[in-house]
Formats: sequence, structure tokens, C-alpha cells
Amino acid sequence: MAELRVRPSGGWQGTLRVPGDKSISHRALMLGALAHGTTRVRNWLPAGDCWSTRRCLLALGVSIGEDPDGAVVVEGGGPEALREPDGILDCGNAGTAMRLLLGIVAGLPHFAVLDGDSSLRRRPMRRVTEPLTRMGARVDGRQGGATAPLAVRGGGLQGIRWRPEVASAQVKSSILLAGLLAEGETVVEEPAATRDHTERMLRGFGARVQVEGTRVALAGGQRLAARDVDVPGDLSAAAFFLGAAAILPGSRVTVPAVGVNPGRTGFLDVLAEMGAEVVLAAQRDVAGEPVADVTVAAPASGRLRGVRVAGALVPRLVDEVPILAVVAACADGDTVVADAGDLRTKESDRLHETAVHLARMGAQIEERPDGLKIRGGGRLTGAEVDSAGDHRMAMALAVAGLAARGETVISGAESVAISFPEFTRALAAFTGGTHAPVV
Ligand code: S3P
Repeated sequence: MAELRVRPSGGWQGTLRVPGDKSISHRALMLGALAHGTTRVRNWLPAGDCWSTRRCLLALGVSIGEDPDGAVVVEGGGPEALREPDGILDCGNAGTAMRLLLGIVAGLPHFAVLDGDSSLRRRPMRRVTEPLTRMGARVDGRQGGATAPLAVRGGGLQGIRWRPEVASAQVKSSILLAGLLAEGETVVEEPAATRDHTERMLRGFGARVQVEGTRVALAGGQRLAARDVDVPGDLSAAAFFLGAAAILPGSRVTVPAVGVNPGRTGFLDVLAEMGAEVVLAAQRDVAGEPVADVTVAAPASGRLRGVRVAGALVPRLVDEVPILAVVAACADGDTVVADAGDLRTKESDRLHETAVHLARMGAQIEERPDGLKIRGGGRLTGAEVDSAGDHRMAMALAVAGLAARGETVISGAESVAISFPEFTRALAAFTGGTHAPVV
């Protein structure tokens, strides 16, 4: 297991590029595979999770290559060109791959088995297998179809009206993709708004999608037309360095061309509420997604304030809770995160792992059934901590190490390759003082 050693760092000023957005990279390959024609995906994220999706689509018979400029090229022949996979579709560590691909294979007249690593095998899948079964797919798996490996015999789906119990873009997207391949209309009514990358990209590929508040509807049988996709920088990768900027006095970090989908910007709102300076410059639309150059600076006073994070804000920062806890540990006053119980079902139990490892670094942090309470005001101390095999835990703990006294050693740091293979190079910009952009 790879160890990452992080030493304390002072403030840092500069510009840092982050790789392409993970959520959008998955979807671009999937919609390209379902569309008719050639889809070029520029700035596709070449990280473990997206490779899982790419390999699964290859196994479904999709031709995927690269052009001389490095764009990923998907040759789509419509859903009818997808073939029955010979072997197991291995989704690795990627929940997005498994849940969205379940929606696709449910709509195909084939048999497919989806599996993943030990973390993915623990993650709840009934939230998608139940609606897909109601639509007409036959799904079986461990625990009565609740966990992977999952076997699907798809095809012959009927549209559905579904109210998921959890606010999850993966669940919504899975049902919408199955709905596209079904007969009749499919409607998903979410308990709270989640990232709408699937809806935006479906429209970009020529589908009609009706959105009213948290209700999304689409008619089945629509034909997708291939189009090129420019993937913006990943705000969830940028969040680690924007969080570092907020807590390291004197810092001002700009991440150019990063996606600012309103379903993803909760962490920026919270940093601003805590007293950091947050600026979104040069806002533009790239292939249907809002993009901006995002700058975060530490407060002039040097001190951030604790906040309360709950309700509809949680899905808007769902992947940022570990780094938010690090920032909160460096702020003054209490921060409370509530309504976030679903974080226990991510790549690791992120509430538990965050509490255990930040406590080891000296934070006063309390694990609650649906969240965390963090008492700020102290200074973190370097310690030996562990990623629990979770990429976002590894990166959040690395940022904690920048703000701590003494050295922090993170084991299991190879997990960063799941979403941000160049993370340690970007981190070196802070600790080594080089201002080289990270691509
Ligand atoms: C994602 C949605 C989120 C997020 C995950 C990516 C997506 O999961 O945590 O990293 O691409 O749709 P949920 O929608 O299940 O909360």
C-alpha cells in the first residue's frame, strides 16, 4: 500500500488545473455509446472509475478509441448495436458506473452480470434494482438483489413514475437511462435536487427532457444523436485545493475552467459562509454545463467560522464532506453536518472514517448517526492515518496534513487514482513551492 507523507505548509498563491469531471466523463461515454454517430470527448478523466465504465462499454461491444489530440472517441450505433457481454462487467470501485450501467443493461434484451471490488459489493443497489425491476427487468443478486454481483436479464421495459427515498443523482440517472430504452413516459421525483448532468447531456444529445423543480420526465424510445463533449474540470477534485486555500493563511488559489453545476457548488457556498473569499470569474456555458474560473482565498483575518450544513444543501456537497470536516476543524466555533446518513454508503463509511482519522490528528469531532459535529479552534497534529481505500478520504487527510503540526502519513494513498491520478503532483505545488500546473 502506497504511503503519502505530508508536511505542514504555509499559504500558497497560484493557479492549479484539475483533471476532467468524473461524473461527466462517465456520462459522456455512456451517452456516446447509446447515440448514433461519433462522439468525441475532450478532457475525459483518465482515472480508475472512468476506466471501469470504458471497459464495461467495450465489453458491450462499443468501439472506443482516441484521436491524435487525445480526445476519447466513441462510435455509437444506438442501443440496438450493444451486444450481450461475454463475461462479467467489472465496475471496479465505481458506484456511478454500476448504477448507471444497470439502467442501461436493464433496457437491453441481453443477460449481463455486474460486479465490483469489495467496497462496491457493500454498497446499496436496491435503490436502483427495485425501480428497474418494476419497469420489467429481471434482476437478481446477493441479499435478494440488494448488493453486487448483480445479474440482469433486460429488455421489454415500461416507463415508470418513481420517487426515490434518497436524493441521489446516480439513482435518478439510472432510471432515466432505463426510461430512455423503455416504452412510454418515465418520471423521477427526487426528495431534493441533485446534480443534473444526465438531464443536461441527454438534451445535448437531442433528447427531450422535461424538468419542473425536482421532477424530471422523459419519453422512452428517443433517438440520441452523437455530439462532441468538452468535459470541464472537476469541482470535486478542485475542492481539496480550494479547501486548502481557505485554511492556509495568505493563500489565494485559482482553478480555471472548472464545472460549477448548481448541484455541485454547495462547498463553495459553505466556504463563503465560513468567511473565505470565493470568486467565480469568466462564467460560461460549455456543452450545456456552467463553467467558471474559481478562486478561493483565506480570510484576511486568518480565521474561518463554523457553520451548519443540512437539508437540501447536503446533495450539493455530497462528495465534499470529508474536506469540509478538515476545513471545519481549522475554523473557530462548531460546525454541524446533519441529514448526511447516506455518506455511510459511499466508497467507505465517510462519516465514521472522517471522525476516526481527524480525531487521530487531534480534531474534536463527534460522529453522529446522520452527520458530524466538529469543534474548531484547535490545531491539527500530524499522525498516521489511513484512507480506508477511499480516494476522497486520502485527499482530505492530505490537506489536513498541510495544516497540521508535524508530519502526516497516509496509508492506502494509491486510492487517489480512482478520481485524481495527478493528485500528489498537485499537492507538491503546495509543499514543494513549484507552481507547475497539474494536467
Ligand atoms: C455521482 C453522484 C453522487 C456522488 C458520486 C457521483 C454521479 O452519488 O456521490 O460521487 O456521478 O451521479 P449519489 O448520487 O448516489 O449521492
